[in-house]
Amino acid sequence: MKKTNQIRKRPLPFEFPGANFYGREEEAAVLRVVRAKSPFRYYGPNCGFEVDHLEEEFARAVGTKYALALNSGTQALATAMAALGIGPGAEVIVPAYMWISIVAGIVRLGAIPVLADIDDSFTLDPRRLERRITRRTRLIVVVHMSGAPANMTAILKVARKHKLPVLEDCAQCNGGSFKGQKVSSFGAMGIYSLQLNKNMTTGEGGLIVTNSTHLFRRASAIHDLGYPRIGGRLVIKNGPYALWGFGGRLNEIAGAIGRVQLKKLPKVVAAMRRAKAQIKKGIRGIPGLSFRRLNDARGDTAAFLILMLPDAERAGKFARALNADNIFAGMSPTMRVVDFGMHVYSNIHSLVDKHSNAPDGFPWTLPANKHSVYRYAKGALPVSDALMERSIIMPIPSVMTPRDIRDTVTGIRKAAAAVL
Ligand SMILES: Cc1ncc(COP(=O)(O)O)c(C=O)c1O
Repeated sequence: MKKTNQIRKRPLPFEFPGANFYGREEEAAVLRVVRAKSPFRYYGPNCGFEVDHLEEEFARAVGTKYALALNSGTQALATAMAALGIGPGAEVIVPAYMWISIVAGIVRLGAIPVLADIDDSFTLDPRRLERRITRRTRLIVVVHMSGAPANMTAILKVARKHKLPVLEDCAQCNGGSFKGQKVSSFGAMGIYSLQLNKNMTTGEGGLIVTNSTHLFRRASAIHDLGYPRIGGRLVIKNGPYALWGFGGRLNEIAGAIGRVQLKKLPKVVAAMRRAKAQIKKGIRGIPGLSFRRLNDARGDTAAFLILMLPDAERAGKFARALNADNIFAGMSPTMRVVDFGMHVYSNIHSLVDKHSNAPDGFPWTLPANKHSVYRYAKGALPVSDALMERSIIMPIPSVMTPRDIRDTVTGIRKAAAAVL
């Protein structure tokens, strides 16, 4: 590729939204825990109960009764599904565009994932959801993908009709909302990730939120050693909350950083919204280029821009043109959604080929799952496939300068002139 007329010599800033805002406050948080010699959340020589505080503050921020902090979003998903009783014989509905951790959680619990279409909002299509429900469906997982909320009104209508719980995966939509209500507070449970690519980050970490005391108690026991705690001490007593633990506790250093990041979250989201709004304004009205539909534009955290093109070939050329001009966030080449790794069902080999961690083929071979036989290879959801093939995705870094924004607009206009 000839580089002489390149719009930029370097990529855009790194896409890590929360980490871009790390500063003295996070440093002080780490030091506070280290100086107290108390990195364990439940007790220590001078425990600051940072994780407890994070949970209280996070629950208040999203408007749920409870929050439980964990050591990853993957762990939060598996724990939440276990708390909801997902196991052999259960089918769990998952959108075509999501993240491998969701299907990993389902499969490790012995249940079977059932794929459902997305629509042009790149979240679960409520109109095509109902046809995926069977007698064995036990849960619907909604994923607020690429920064923006799913249509919770329409999805909850279907879920209520069939008396099914909804688990909201908000890993990519921290700070987002739908019709003025924070995501994660609509379903039976919600989860977040605090991994580096997320709107607030502790490097690794996750959260579960719920309004149900029973589900919170189950999740608390399961995320830990399988038993409840009182005052930080395990309660080794038989009863409904004597279960099996996943070892998913969050440590105090992450808890302390998480509290600082939660305070910064509105600023991080506001910065991405400003940048995205300016980029959209600068490229509006280009024939052949359309924006992903937003179920609620005001609830979009603006962490990503998704553009739809007329077909797969032009989408590929468009992404390549942008990359040649360095119009991509630090670590992530701009790409077609379909090429976005294990966010797309058909890219997950272990799902397509029904792999198992165990030699007996668990859970695909379980007698309890014998009626739940599905295909996961490309073509299982042709509508979603076509949509993901003809669209491109780029993260909106949280620290874009006016120059970065101008370059992005120029780059998109130039690529459109060349490709469309
Ligand atoms: C939609 C979604 N769900 C779950 C996760 C898992 O989170 P973690 O990486 O913290 O395990 C991620 C991100 O990595 C994600 O994007």
